[in-house]
Amino acid sequence: MVQRRIPKIKDLAPLMKFKSPEFNARKRRLAAALTIADLRAIAQKRTPKAAFDYTEGAAEAEISLSRARQAFEDIEFHPSILRDVSTVSTGWDVLGGPVAQPFGIAPTGFTRMMQTEGEIAGAHAAARAGIPFALSTMGTTSIEDVKAANPSGRNWFQLYMWKDRDRSMALVDRAAKAGFDTLLVTVDVPVAGARLRDKRNGFSIPPALTLGTVVNALPRPEWWINFLTTEPLAFASLDRWSGTVADLLDTMFDPTVDFEDLAWIKAQWPGKVVVKGVQNLQDAKRLVDLGVDGITLSNHGGRQLDRAPIPFHLLPQVAREVGAHTEVHLDTGIMSGADIVASVALGARFTMIGRAYLYGLMAGGEAGVDRTIQILSEQVSRTMRLLGVNSLEELNPGHVTQLARLMPVAAPMVASAEAVPARKAPVRKAPVRGAPVREAPVRTAAAPKQSVRASTAVTGTPVKRAPKKATPTA
Ligand SMILES: Cc1cc2nc3c(=O)[nH]c(=O)nc-3n(C[C@H](O)[C@H](O)[C@H](O)COP(=O)(O)O)c2cc1C
Repeated sequence: MVQRRIPKIKDLAPLMKFKSPEFNARKRRLAAALTIADLRAIAQKRTPKAAFDYTEGAAEAEISLSRARQAFEDIEFHPSILRDVSTVSTGWDVLGGPVAQPFGIAPTGFTRMMQTEGEIAGAHAAARAGIPFALSTMGTTSIEDVKAANPSGRNWFQLYMWKDRDRSMALVDRAAKAGFDTLLVTVDVPVAGARLRDKRNGFSIPPALTLGTVVNALPRPEWWINFLTTEPLAFASLDRWSGTVADLLDTMFDPTVDFEDLAWIKAQWPGKVVVKGVQNLQDAKRLVDLGVDGITLSNHGGRQLDRAPIPFHLLPQVAREVGAHTEVHLDTGIMSGADIVASVALGARFTMIGRAYLYGLMAGGEAGVDRTIQILSEQVSRTMRLLGVNSLEELNPGHVTQLARLMPVAAPMVASAEAVPARKAPVRKAPVRGAPVREAPVRTAAAPKQSVRASTAVTGTPVKRAPKKATPTA
């Protein structure tokens, strides 16, 4: 039988740990978020559906993105015990400059549409955390304003090459003059991926005020008040646009850009050049031959080619083969600091976060981005300590096993014209002793006339322009 007694105040006093209440709702909300998934849940409640879906969504059936996340979940860490991990260092040099964490903020377009503080919030938070901030060509804050927000930190400019090459290169020039130290050239958008959520939502730039959007706005007043009472949404470096994102991309982007153009772009830029969107080893090797400073294994967060290779799966081989000659970076699917640590262990020098940053932004503006960086940083540091390492240099492939659920059944073939000869129709053997031959119907689909390069395969008329002589067409 349990003996009961009246509780004594002197016994209860040490247990009473009442905190002073937090009256700032934003701070309270953000402090309660312990993971990026928690920030995502807050973001979803506070952002109109079309803007949230634009951020969260990927291309077609969104298989690339879910596989990338699955690949991170399907790892096994191998810790070492009895190491002194009282101190841990999460920084090192990336592209010749220091970073406090092995991750930075990926370039994202239309950022002020997700939350009005947009790129300035990202640049401020990155500056405070000592990590790079990347501004997109499709950003909604100017190059100069980002520089002013992050004057002594590291700013990277992400280039999309437009049909109007002079205008693209004018942006590159402005970024160089503003002191951006790295040019990220994104190469996985010859045409826009099919973002079906945007089509279904009737999503346009700027967001249209339809009956549906007004009804959806009712429980999200803060977003709409911000949207309607701040500077109208406009591209910092583009003319105004009115229409869908996919139409914008297809109108502006130059689908003829090739390795030769890349070499030319590289020659125009005084700083470091990283090529973003690399998806096989052969292309990585060609880029090394071109002398780029880094490559980013990425499938654009699953927003372009659906069922593209999982960057995290490409990583070990690419890092092994080209990592000594160029820096290998990685993005797509990162939702935790453990994903980042696993990537570094398998050879990545750096990683970038897209949605993880935007979820924080939508959940609480600049303070929300701070919270994203804080959550990831703590996870990086804790994972390293639990693995028994003090520094990024100590991480190695022995710390991670990629479990086999999503591994390719055979080594991937390379979809590049140079590596694979164009397929020909099967040649029939000569008939034996004049036996009659009935010709099989020609299957044209199996006998393409030209290489598999998208621009030529689709149009049949490759357009080759010398980069320097390009004239505006848009
Ligand atoms: C809403 C959104 C907009 C993006 N805009 C751009 C862009 O303008 N330029 C670019 O190179 N990549 C863009 N990306 C891709 C990111 O730079 C990055 O590759 C991707 O988000 C990484 O995957 P994650 O979101 O799973 O972290 C965008 C991604 C998102 C989610």
